[in-house]
Amino acid sequence: MEVLEAIRTRRSIRQYKNEPIPPDVIEKLLEAGRWAPSASNSQPWGFIVIADAELKRKVSRSFVFGHFLAEAPLGIAVVVDPWRTPCAIQDGTLAAYAIWLAAHALGLGACWINPNISRGIKKILCIPATKKLICILSIGYSAESPVHTRRKLQGFVYFEKYGNKEGPISFRQG
Ligand SMILES: Cc1cc2nc3c(=O)[nH]c(=O)nc-3n(C[C@H](O)[C@H](O)[C@H](O)COP(=O)(O)O)c2cc1C
Repeated sequence: MEVLEAIRTRRSIRQYKNEPIPPDVIEKLLEAGRWAPSASNSQPWGFIVIADAELKRKVSRSFVFGHFLAEAPLGIAVVVDPWRTPCAIQDGTLAAYAIWLAAHALGLGACWINPNISRGIKKILCIPATKKLICILSIGYSAESPVHTRRKLQGFVYFEKYGNKEGPISFRQG
């Protein structure tokens, strides 16, 4: 899939087919995360592959908006070490997005689950207190086709200085 098309057509997928993800495909997802950019190439991340059904259930129950993880064949937690770089959160977010986009390009669907409003998730996954959990990506073969819109470029693109909407591009997108 072409990159621009992948960016545009990726959606948050929360319903999955009962179909396992082959190990070589999981490796491709992890490889996509590995090649994400990071500040000073610090690569401050760790990825936890969560495939065990009971563990997925336990993790999913700790979320407010992520119960669907229990039905997904795979979860990938993205963890960063904030002591390694002041940009660890940005780095981890980029790695997670690379995995998310790769999932879409490989014919899978994924959704970011926000761990900040979860109960006890770090303990369940044995993540040390010094590390920061960026997200859990819930991943599987999609069983839904959600539609989402975006604000129009005219609404938030400025030229030369914030607030100035006069510029050389007449936006064409619908
Ligand atoms: C930082 C962040 C946190 C998110 N947290 C959750 C979440 O906890 N649960 C969930 O179902 N979706 C979550 N999402 C998915 C968003 O709801 C989704 O990306 C947004 O509605 C746009 O839809 P789309 O991804 O299909 O384009 C999160 C996305 C981001 C970027």
